[in-house]
Amino acid sequence: MWRQMTGAERILEVLLTRRSVSPRRLQQPAPNTDELDAILQAGLRAPDHGGLHPWRVIEFRPRNREALAWCFEQEKLRRDPLASPTDLKRSREHATRAPLLLGFVVSPRERSKVPAREQWLSAGAALGNILSAAHQLGYGAIVLSGERCYDETLARQLGVLPGEYLAGFISMGTIQEAPPQARETLSQSVWSCWQGDALPPSPEDPPSQPGRPGQPIRSSERMPGS
Ligand SMILES: Cc1cc2nc3c(=O)[nH]c(=O)nc-3n(C[C@H](O)[C@H](O)[C@H](O)COP(=O)(O)O)c2cc1C
Repeated sequence: MWRQMTGAERILEVLLTRRSVSPRRLQQPAPNTDELDAILQAGLRAPDHGGLHPWRVIEFRPRNREALAWCFEQEKLRRDPLASPTDLKRSREHATRAPLLLGFVVSPRERSKVPAREQWLSAGAALGNILSAAHQLGYGAIVLSGERCYDETLARQLGVLPGEYLAGFISMGTIQEAPPQARETLSQSVWSCWQGDALPPSPEDPPSQPGRPGQPIRSSERMPGS
């Protein structure tokens, strides 16, 4: 449904209009080296407890795509020895179709005091920044995983180390055909407002202090944007 953007939405337009674009809808040219560098810098600006950057990307350059296609085909055959020629062709295309193809690897630092779950969140935030930066530069992008990301042999062939995780493959390129419009999701679906009165009042709490456990929080009850 089309509607006029508010002032706040116009400022956030890049984030609000990002859409994933399937590799089938992408064509050359891909982001050049400088643009890819800027996109990765955006990834590195994601919130990152301890500055660990617990992720990395592997670029699959055009000259190595046929070798990657062979790896994808072999992975498909390990999973499904009776795979049809059409299935195998589709597997190969996942390696060859995207103008730019990156493997996105989550690389948690095991000896760090930062809990693994925070490192995963940092990696996810970096992935989001990478996709938004590509969109900001006018390119289409998508991350796709699939069962091949869980195949240990493929991970080894691609240089994913023990303790690392192949989270997905990022395709990027010029948008040949626009993707369908995103369905609008209401912020209410991810929003709630804690009502402190659910807790029994603590004996140490003076009864008149607002915003402490035992007191209803009234000031922030307004839904953002409402
Ligand atoms: C790590 C990761 C892996 C994903 N893998 C797949 C996938 O294998 N197949 C798929 O259809 N969508 C996958 N998605 C979702 C798409 O990338 C995309 O976000 C989704 O289609 C929604 O489109 P939108 O980003 O335009 O909202 C994955 C998303 C993430 C974050």
